[in-house]
Amino acid sequence: MNHAVIQRSEMMSASLALGGRPLALSEYATTGLMGVAVGPRGHGKTNAGLLIAEQLSGQGWVSVLIDPEGELESMYGEATKNPEALRGHLTARDRAIVVVSAKDAGEFVPFGQVILECADAFRKPLYVLIDEGQLFSAAKKRKDGVGEATDICRRAFKSDHLCALNFDQG
Ligand SMILES: Nc1ncnc2c1ncn2[C@@H]1O[C@H](COP(=O)(O)OP(=O)(O)OP(=O)(O)O)[C@@H](O)[C@H]1O
Ligand SMILES: [Mg+2]
Repeated sequence: MNHAVIQRSEMMSASLALGGRPLALSEYATTGLMGVAVGPRGHGKTNAGLLIAEQLSGQGWVSVLIDPEGELESMYGEATKNPEALRGHLTARDRAIVVVSAKDAGEFVPFGQVILECADAFRKPLYVLIDEGQLFSAAKKRKDGVGEATDICRRAFKSDHLCALNFDQG
């Protein structure tokens, strides 16, 4: 069987300036790019994810910010009302940054499904920041929707069409 190498054209010209030497995303065009931020409280994990969102959204990407603590709406506008409204934004690409308010795994799951579906359907540059990712993913705890949310996170990490994902693990 012949496996074609997937080239994400939207990553060929994208770059991130996070301090130090600018990072050319072309280096990740065949692999995709995922980030996990792990660190003590208040050390800038969320801030780093937001910086990436702002820079990629400034380069034509759509960023989806999963916001369990309700702190991002004041910075990036009112949270999208429901999963179908999110689907509308990801279809029309009418917002550079979309905030999703989801306080637990159960609330996250329907939004996560829409993100995966739209990533596969449209194959357009999409960055997803999952803030406080520990709420939506666990190795053992499978109840209250955490199992399903964990599966969505895993699929997002492996997706060929989700171009970058930041998983803020507090
Ligand atoms: N790059 C930075 N330079 C200077 N100060 C920063 C930077 N990033 C974050 N800070 C400061 O640190 C504070 C905490 O940052 P942030 O909320 O990103 O941390 P966090 O690691 O996500 O914390 P938590 O684990 O509580 O979610 C910010 O309010 C800001 O004042
Ligand atoms: Mg944080």
